[in-house]
Amino acid sequence: MKAAVLTSMGDADALVLQEVADPKPGAGEAVVRVRAAALNHRDVFIRQGLYPGVKLPVILGSDAAGVVAEVGEGVDTAWVGKEVVVDPCFDWGDNPRAQSNKFHILGLPEDGTYAEFVKVPAENLAPKPGHLSFEEAAALPLAGLTAYRAVVTRAQVAAGEKVLVTGIGGGVSSFALQIALAAGAEVYVTSGSDEKIERAKALGAAGGANYREGDWGKAIVAMTGGGPDVVIDSVGGETFARAIEILKTGGRLATYGATAGAVNKFEVRRIFWKQLTVLGSTMGLRSEFAEMLKLYESRELRPVVDKVFGLGEAAEAHRRMEQGGQFGKIVLKVD
Ligand SMILES: NC(=O)c1ccc[n+]([C@@H]2O[C@H](COP(=O)([O-])OP(=O)(O)OC[C@H]3O[C@@H](n4cnc5c(N)ncnc54)[C@H](OP(=O)(O)O)[C@@H]3O)[C@@H](O)[C@H]2O)c1
Repeated sequence: MKAAVLTSMGDADALVLQEVADPKPGAGEAVVRVRAAALNHRDVFIRQGLYPGVKLPVILGSDAAGVVAEVGEGVDTAWVGKEVVVDPCFDWGDNPRAQSNKFHILGLPEDGTYAEFVKVPAENLAPKPGHLSFEEAAALPLAGLTAYRAVVTRAQVAAGEKVLVTGIGGGVSSFALQIALAAGAEVYVTSGSDEKIERAKALGAAGGANYREGDWGKAIVAMTGGGPDVVIDSVGGETFARAIEILKTGGRLATYGATAGAVNKFEVRRIFWKQLTVLGSTMGLRSEFAEMLKLYESRELRPVVDKVFGLGEAAEAHRRMEQGGQFGKIVLKVD
């Protein structure tokens, strides 16, 4: 099969289209013919050497939509020929509050989805929502699941609440916007681009502030009439610190990422004095994956697809993510 293989650490050109052996399903496994895969920032961080223990070569990619080609021993053969998406979480464990230390994600160390075929445990298969194209469905798994757990399970966003989603151009952020809107919240966003704020408004956001222009925190406080009830943050760094400052008394902040790194100076007293709740969130349970798919199917929601590249253009797709040009998910179409 053809795959975009990560051959060395470094810049995006380290992703090379190569001929590699087809995967064979073992007991309990299925092989999916990938019709579309999607990028996550994780893939860029891995390529840049920011993840420990990477063994090369490896096929990156945690998201896939496709058709089941073959199943191994003990797997219902009725799956063969079915259109599916793949839950990228392995070995969460028994505790719904947090993953076990065996937890890992499709696309490292196991070969991932930037390929014509991917092998996964059959228990990770789920039917593809019927109203979505393969490209749209491939955008769903990792980002949709992460946003669902952060917004619904952890922050418990309720109808009428004012929610701020930071860095709306991000893949997960676009899902957080849609899921918070589906919960009946009034959603505000930040972005480094006015155009992306306008696109978020077209999706239903009530307003937004550009973090490259002036004091975005002040602007959000003014728009929300005193600050948001909830912040969903993936930026970290100074954005996290500012979000804590502008949250309403009694507010919640769900954090699932730190694209901008650590916080240099942080006023802990703001958390206790304002009685804030800070909620860490990572990926999600199989049951949350099913609930997320059900939400997208029942409301006929469509993931925001930024741009579709060919499998041979994985390097170009990575560069787009690295430069932050995207609004929504960057997808690789696999023919
Ligand atoms: N814990 C988990 O389970 C989990 C799961 C998925 C992702 N993550 C993490 O979440 C983060 C986002 O992932 P992703 O795949 O959605 O990434 P992405 O698509 O690359 O999105 C990153 C976005 O962050 C925004 N951003 C960057 N610097 C910013 C700053 N200084 N201030 C405000 N916004 C800024 C940009 O938004 P604008 O373009 O609008 O400016 C950018 O588009 C990554 O750190 C990733 O590792 C964690």
